[in-house]
Amino acid sequence: MEFFLDTANIAEIKDAQDAGLLDGVTTNPSLIAKEGGGYLETLEKICQIVVDKPVNAECVERDYQAIVAEGRELAKIADNISVKIPLDPDGLKATRALSEEGIPVNNTLCFSPMQALLSAKSGATYISPFVGRLDDISQEGMELIEQIRLIYDNYGIATKILVASIRNPTHVLTSALIGADIATLPHKVLQQLYRHPLTDSGIERFLADYEKIPKEALQS
Ligand code: E4P
Repeated sequence: MEFFLDTANIAEIKDAQDAGLLDGVTTNPSLIAKEGGGYLETLEKICQIVVDKPVNAECVERDYQAIVAEGRELAKIADNISVKIPLDPDGLKATRALSEEGIPVNNTLCFSPMQALLSAKSGATYISPFVGRLDDISQEGMELIEQIRLIYDNYGIATKILVASIRNPTHVLTSALIGADIATLPHKVLQQLYRHPLTDSGIERFLADYEKIPKEALQS
């Protein structure tokens, strides 16, 4: 399973990249607003660091022709840009047009399996089901991933399932068990994946025992 980072924060992206764990980046207007820089400026900065993995840039236009024009402009930022388009009728028309031009599209804000099927039929490269936001309204977000995986497998659909709105390591584990293609993680969740209390206490115990070893024994 690939790991994308769900952030517009340069330090977080560099950290995941240095760890060799970065397969791509997803951004959205909320994440870019949090960092305080300009919209295009922030995307350009990200593409200066991430040059050979997908960087997702979201369209904010709302009607078909304007989305297509905006998608083309965003795609000019760098060769590795994928255009994120919200999943509504105009968005899907634009998805078809941009995909046919060879621009990879990620349909975002997916909350139902039928939306995911429409997205695939429109030629999307990625579908982004938002599991955390479904959990927030007391629906089971991971059930959506299971359903999309089943439908896509039934028909040999190549659109990649990119699990979004991830809130915790269990979302990542369940995504992997179901066979989702990609999980886009907040940096905090990526950090949580490393941790286990038995690893921490085990390191502590090994170091404490190491201190008990006579130092000359190491030199002989
Ligand atoms: C995905 O591409 C989105 O940027 C993101 O996962 C949204 O998550 P949120 O529900 O935490 O805002």
